[in-house]
Amino acid sequence: MSKVLVFMSSPRKQGNTDRLCDAFIKGVHKNYHEVEKIYVHYQHIQPCLGCRMCQHNQGQCVQKDDMQDIYHKMAESNVIAFASPVYFYTWNAPMKLLIDRSFALEKYIHDKRFYLLSTGLAPDESYFQIMKDSFQKYVHCLRAGGNQFVDYVFACQTGSKNDIENTDALKSAYELGKGI
Ligand SMILES: Cc1cc2nc3c(=O)[nH]c(=O)nc-3n(C[C@H](O)[C@H](O)[C@H](O)COP(=O)(O)O)c2cc1C
Repeated sequence: MSKVLVFMSSPRKQGNTDRLCDAFIKGVHKNYHEVEKIYVHYQHIQPCLGCRMCQHNQGQCVQKDDMQDIYHKMAESNVIAFASPVYFYTWNAPMKLLIDRSFALEKYIHDKRFYLLSTGLAPDESYFQIMKDSFQKYVHCLRAGGNQFVDYVFACQTGSKNDIENTDALKSAYELGKGI
């Protein structure tokens, strides 16, 4: 059994990204894996200070906020899904805060399988390229070994909260989750 962690960074609960996560999670449950979804926007996460202290003291960040719990959960998971709406071609701000603060784990996190789930108003997948490249490079930066960017689902043409219901993305996310 795998431990699956899902970071959902849209502020809109039951919006497109949240529903995409839920479809993914429904698939994950098929194989009785353990799943936790974290509403990143509602966590208290301070921006990275760039002090680099975490690089010299076994990955301990000098800031004490909700990232302490998130570090622990990331280390304990086998699978981590990052789910963000596209804001100006990339992550929304809460997810970027989390990503930057995970610098503390850069040398330590290992053997994780990473997934990307994203939603945007754009008409086709080419508009998600920056997001995908950024995620691929992020996973590559985690240099302890064994980390892998496995797959992704992008939901295009999603604006209003329930637009995603009219796309194939929910089914794709379900299948992705089921494949874990
Ligand atoms: C500030 C802002 C910037 C956005 N920028 C983009 C963008 O660059 N590309 C895109 O496809 N959609 C963009 N969108 C649209 C959202 O990504 C899209 O509506 C998404 O489905 C919202 O997800 P949610 O329902 O989970 O909040 C933007 C929305 C906002 C609020």
